[in-house]
Parts: sequence; structure tokens; C-alpha cells
Amino acid sequence: MATKKQSKAAKKQTKAVAKKKPKAAAKKQTKAVAKKQPKAAAKKQTKTAVKKQAKAAVKKQPKVAAKSETVGGQYGYFDDANKEYVLRNPATPIKWCNYVGTLAYGGIVDTTGGTVLCKGDPALNRITKYISQMPCSDFKGSTTYIRIKEKDSIKILSPFVVPTCTMWDKWECRIGLSYTKWVAEGFGLKVTVVVFVPSKSSTLIQDISIENVSRKNMEIDVVPVYEFSHFDALKQLTNADWVPQTMTVEAHKEKDGHVILEQYAFMKKQYAVNYFTASLPADSFDGDRREFLGFNEITGWAAPATLYKGKLSNSTALRGDNIAAQMFKFKLAPKKVGRVATQLGQEKSIADAMPAIKKYRDLKNVDKAFADLADFWKNYLTALQVRTPDSSFNSMINVHNPRQCHTTKNWSRYLSLYQLGFGSDRGIGYRDSSQDLLGVMSHMPEEARVLAENLLSVQLEGGNAMHQYFPSTMEANEGDSREKEDRPKYYGDDHLWIVLTVASYLKETGNLEFLKKEIPFYNKKKELEAREKGTVLEHLKRSLAFSWNDRGTHGIPHLGFADWNDTVNLPTGAESLFNASLFAKALLEMIDICEAIEDRELVEKYKNWYEEIKAQVNKTAWDGEWYVRWFDEKGEPLGSSKNKYNKIDSLGQSWPVISGIAPAEYAKTALDSVNKLLNTENGIKLSWPGYNGFDPHVGGVSTYPPGAKENGGIFLHANPWVMIAETIIGNGDRAFQYYNQINPAAKNNGKISEFESEPYCYPQNILGSEHKQFGLARNAWLSGTSSWTYQAATQYILGIKATFKGLSVNPCIPKVWKEFSVSRKFRDAVYEISVKNPNGVSKGVKSVTINGNAIEGNVLPILPAGKKHIVVVVMGE
Ligand code: GLC
Repeated sequence: MATKKQSKAAKKQTKAVAKKKPKAAAKKQTKAVAKKQPKAAAKKQTKTAVKKQAKAAVKKQPKVAAKSETVGGQYGYFDDANKEYVLRNPATPIKWCNYVGTLAYGGIVDTTGGTVLCKGDPALNRITKYISQMPCSDFKGSTTYIRIKEKDSIKILSPFVVPTCTMWDKWECRIGLSYTKWVAEGFGLKVTVVVFVPSKSSTLIQDISIENVSRKNMEIDVVPVYEFSHFDALKQLTNADWVPQTMTVEAHKEKDGHVILEQYAFMKKQYAVNYFTASLPADSFDGDRREFLGFNEITGWAAPATLYKGKLSNSTALRGDNIAAQMFKFKLAPKKVGRVATQLGQEKSIADAMPAIKKYRDLKNVDKAFADLADFWKNYLTALQVRTPDSSFNSMINVHNPRQCHTTKNWSRYLSLYQLGFGSDRGIGYRDSSQDLLGVMSHMPEEARVLAENLLSVQLEGGNAMHQYFPSTMEANEGDSREKEDRPKYYGDDHLWIVLTVASYLKETGNLEFLKKEIPFYNKKKELEAREKGTVLEHLKRSLAFSWNDRGTHGIPHLGFADWNDTVNLPTGAESLFNASLFAKALLEMIDICEAIEDRELVEKYKNWYEEIKAQVNKTAWDGEWYVRWFDEKGEPLGSSKNKYNKIDSLGQSWPVISGIAPAEYAKTALDSVNKLLNTENGIKLSWPGYNGFDPHVGGVSTYPPGAKENGGIFLHANPWVMIAETIIGNGDRAFQYYNQINPAAKNNGKISEFESEPYCYPQNILGSEHKQFGLARNAWLSGTSSWTYQAATQYILGIKATFKGLSVNPCIPKVWKEFSVSRKFRDAVYEISVKNPNGVSKGVKSVTINGNAIEGNVLPILPAGKKHIVVVVMGE
């Protein structure tokens, strides 16, 4: 509430503003603007010129849209040869984006040139200021202006369209593997911009080329601009007192004309500075946003007044809104190309940055870094390539899905255009990253191990895990369970996922020594050196022991604050059937591990635990046509036909099959119930029916309307689990139908307007059939859907899976597939596997030959490294 004094002051202020505003002042201002801008520009500003421009823009606009319509109502198309998605219409329904670099240095570039950049931690070391909720026409963190000077006019454009919002004759944005490339043609120019982070560097490159495609000489100025954030990303948004007082931009002008803009927050100047420089000397620069935009920013990013003057203002900034802008001048004869590459980096000091600065000022090194990036991806993707009769499947499995897995491995659920990476809401999620690692294990097992070690180091001595941690400090917290006093402070599933992850690493690499590595347990109260340590094996044993000792009245593991479904938060004492299944699956993996290290005693112990859990689930949780999903604190079932809402839950059915605890009859009946009650043409709903109003007993799930997110929405992450379960019971046609339903690449032809999200990556959720906007997708990129759909497709549908003994081949495919082939790197050998299906079956391997020799069974042994081995598999009854 405003105090009386405050409201009086406010009134006074309003009056003063009103007084100042009147015509005279406005006129004065306009005159001043006109005076400052060169005549030509001033003319442009006149009413008729503005009208003309607006008309021209309107005229141009439909052209772009019309062009995109000629490709079938799509916004773009897949260019598989170049491993790119080519966007041709900048007006996507919602922001579409791409990732560049890694968490070590990198972030997001959206398709209209906005950049979110950080080093090591988006919350605690943010570099650019990107406010994702603003309309798509707004400047967000970065842009590049192109100024065309003609005899009596000035045109200001951007190859990204935003923020000048000028349309080009032809425009495309190529979303590539860790780079985005724009090509804009019009106004006598062809402008090409490529943005990427060279591997292992701490610099974002923007490589800009301009070709004069007109018949006359042209004068072009190129002005790239970045706006900085305070390194504490949340403070930038919540504190407009302290933040601006600490922000600084200095300029270093070198003898040869190059300019380095150095930006830092005052208390960091000794150990982290951001810098912006380029391959060319700068004509002029700006470090202060107000100076750059001019006229106290009233003309905004769409038409920065300074650009109508000859030069930028050469401003530095002692406080305030920090930017880095430089102007590069080109005089281009017809057909000539001008090129400049900028660098936005972070190092300890400018002196430390000099080697990189010098390196990337040489365009040959920029080209090499770009070629190296392509090599990285080529190498990464060759871990597994497929050829099947389905082209959308091939496109996803060969390029976009493993690429998304690489993205989720890097960013967990920390930084996206949905999970914004501010404050302590998120970090690296324990359960999320454990699952993400399963999606990259065949491509980068050693990098996966490093992250797995971090996860193990935030497991508590008691065996359960912290819910998330911050990568730059390794501090961990309890996630949302911190919010509710009367609910448990741990999640019942987190610690179990890591057993699957470690098992997957061991099977992929055979490196059993890893089990002996000592890793500390987490203890907030102790310094790192003083914390208790245990071998990796000990960590896994404690995970399992935690769940075994934490069972409730039905003999089922407790829910904790939540299980995989974050939004069902039942009072203390509730049990989770999902946790029971995950526990059982973790036990199976642990049994495999203990057999590999020949520890018979442990094998026996875990087999007993497994049998006990299996018996308890089947004794207590079968509801008649499906399994229930939870028992609440009073022992009442949830996810049962007895409930009014949430009668059936998809995880409740898929996981007892995945963990092998469902007997064949139950497995089939449960999965048929999923098909009957949860499946839709857009994917499988998580549950049905959705709650229709807040119910404090269940918590978060009932805050959503029916059909949204976990409340009966199509929560995609859970779909591949049903696919996997269907392959386990041999139902290849249904598994593939479920795969296709959610394949975003398949949406590109037709359903994209309803789907709205990027067609080149999985979103987290699609609104379900209880919602009026059924089919609408949100929360692209950072979802466990990526890892699990990749596993479902490669390990269960195509059926190629690493085991301790070798590579198991056990496909479960649509009956109509006559053949498919897979090239898979495994333990440094390449297995070229062709699978024939002459009798049109879904499952069953009749014969296997390796390099022409028949083998027993369907596990390809570990073969000599560095060689290609030809494997022929014939399916049949
Ligand atoms: C989000 C969370 C994930 C959780 C899922 C279901 O994707 O990141 O941890 O399992 O929602 O609630």
C-alpha cells in the first residue's frame, strides 16, 4: 500500500510530467531529433516517409508468409543432407530456438537473433539479458543492424528481422548442429550470419558476410549489439538499484583500430570480465545503452536514433544498462563480399582473453573452428546411424534426437525459453540428468561419467539424493520440497535413477574399475574434504538400501515429497507404485552389475528384494484392469477405478512391465487399458480424468486445468515408457504407432499450426483431449522425452542394446518393415547390422551371422576394436 506521502508525491510527479509533456516540449524534442539525424534520416522520419515505410512493410510481409505457404503450410523444412531444419518464415507461432556451445560456455539463440548466454551456470554467471516473455518483435539480448546509406536516405535493417521488423525478399534461418545460420536477401544485399561457439572455447562467434548483389556500389555499415545482464541473472530482474550501480563497460582501443569492449560487474572485475571485439577495426562503438539508442531511448531498439547519425557515440559506461555495440564500415562494389566476425567472450581478464581474441580475429581460424564443430558432430552421430523404411524416424534418430539428447545432457532442465534459469528454482536436476545420461551413453560415455560423478557427489550418506545442484558451486538443495512444511523433504525416486545410469555406463564401456572410484557423499554442514566418502558401488548399495528401508504399510516404497510426477504431493506416509517399479528395475540392473563383478552374495540379496517387491505390488496394487499408482497416507488407492479423478495413470502400467514385475496377463491387460483410456492421436495422456479444481490433498497436479501438463495432459516423457513396455510384450505395431504419434518431425507436414512448437525437437507436453487446445505443444527442448524416446527407438524398437557380454539384438518392429540396418559403434568396434524380416514378424531372432559366421543366440560378442564387422540378423518365429 502506498503511504499518503507517497501518493502525494506521485500526484505531484504526474502533474509535472503532464505539464512538461504538452505540445511545445514534444515539438522541441522532434526538432532536436531531426537536427541530430542527418538530413536524409530526418526526411525519413517525416509522416509521409513513415507511412510509406509502413506500407512497404505490409506489402513485403505477406511475401514471406506466402513463400512459406508454398511449402505446404509449414514454416520450414528438413534439410537432411545438411542436418539442418530450414525456417523460411520468421513469424513462428511461438519463439523457436537453437542451442550453441555447452553449459561450460554457451546458451540459446532464437530464430530472430536473440541470445541467452552464460558461462558454467545460467543463474550465477549469466552474460546477456534476455527477457523471454516480451513479444517476439522485441530486442532480446542481441541483434545486428545493417545500415544502407544511399544518396538521400538511410535504411536500417536486421538480417534477423527483429527488432527493425523489416521483411526481406528472401529469408531463411538454418537451425544446424550447435550453430544457426541466417541468409537474408533484399535491398541489393545478401547477408549471411552464422552464430556458434567453437568447441572448448569461451567465446560466441558471430560471422557476418555481406554481398553486394546489386549493380551499383554500396556503402554498408554493420552494427552488432549485445546487451549484458548482471551475472546474477535473477538480481538483474529484481534489483534496479544495486545492479546498475555495479555495471561497467570500458573500451580499449588498440593501435590498429580494433576495439575491445570490456564489461564487468564491479565486484567481479578481478576474476571475470566479458569482452566484445571483432576481426575488423571498429569505426565507432558504444557501451552505454542510452547513448546507443539515443534520445533517452524513446525511439527504442526498432529505430535507434544514433544509427541515423554518422557514427556511434564511443560511449563507455560507469553504471547503468551495459551493452557492447561496434560499427564496421564496408564500401562494396557489385558482387563484392565484406566479412566481419565478432567475439563475445568471458575470461579472467582481457590479458587472459588475448590469445583467443587474436586467434578468432583471423578468419581462417573462424572457418577452422566451424569445420571442427562439424567434425565433432559427425563423429558424435556416427555412434549410431540407422536406415529404416520410415524417413521421419530416420531423420529423428540420425540427427535431431541424439542432438537433443546432447542438449539435455548439457542443460538438464536449467536453461530454456521455458525454464529460464533464474534464481534457485532449478539447477542440474538429479533425476532429470540421471535419465538424460542414458540418452548419450552410446555417444559420449566418458563425458556422461563425469556428470554421473557430480550427481553421485550430491547423494546423501543415508542413500537418498539432493534434488538439484548448481554446477558452478556444487551446492545442492531439496527442490520444491522446501516449500511445504508438512511434507517429506526428499523425493522417493531421485536416488534410484543413478543406478540405471551407472549400469548403462558400465555396460557401454566395460569399465568395471569405475565401481571402485571413491566419491564423497553430500553433507551441507561439512566442507568437501571432511565429507564421508564411498566407492561408486557403495553409493549404489545405499540408494537401494534407502528404498528398501523406506517402505510403507503395503510394503511399497514411500512417495516422499513426490516421485517422477513432481505434482502429486500426498501427505507423509503415502506409497508410490512407480517408486516400487523403479526400485525393481534398479535391482535388476544392480543384479547385472553384481554378476559382472561376481559378487554372489549381493546377487542373492538383491534377487530376494526383487521377488519381495514384485510379490507385494501384485498382491496389493492390481485394480482389475490396471495397476493403481499410489496409496495415500490412509492406504487409499489413487489411480484406481474407485477414484473420481485420476482413475488411471500411464506410469502405473508401463513401469511394472519395464521392471518385469507384471505377470504376462497383467502386462497385456494394463497396456490395453492405456490404449483404450489414455491414448489419443497426439500421444498418450499421463492420466485420466484430470482434476477439475484445486485439491490440497494431492497438491500441484490439481492447479492445472484438465488436460494440461501432469493433469491429464500428454506429458511426452511418459510416452516412450509405454512404447518400451509394448516392445517387451512383443507389440511392435503399437509401439511404432505410439512413436509416430509424437514424432515432432512428422508434425511438420500439416499439424504444425496446431502443435506450434519446434518440429525438430521434442517438447515436454502437449495439451490433452480434455483441453480445448488439444494438440498444442509447449516446453520444447529440455525434456526427458528426448533420452527415453531415443532409447525406446534404438534399444527396444530396433532392439540394439549394450550388455556386459556384448551387443544384444532383439528388435520389435512394425510387421510391415521388411528390413532395416543399423551402424553402431560399441567398445571401439563398428557393428554394421542388417536385419531382415522375410516373414513379416514383429519380434523374434531366427539367425545371426558375424562376418559370415553363424553365432548362437542374439548377443553379438565384443569384437576386435578399430574394425568394421558385418552382422546379418534374420527375424522369424
Ligand atoms: C518435469 C521435471 C521432471 C519431472 C516431470 C514430471 O519434466 O523436470 O523432473 O519428472 O516434470 O513431473
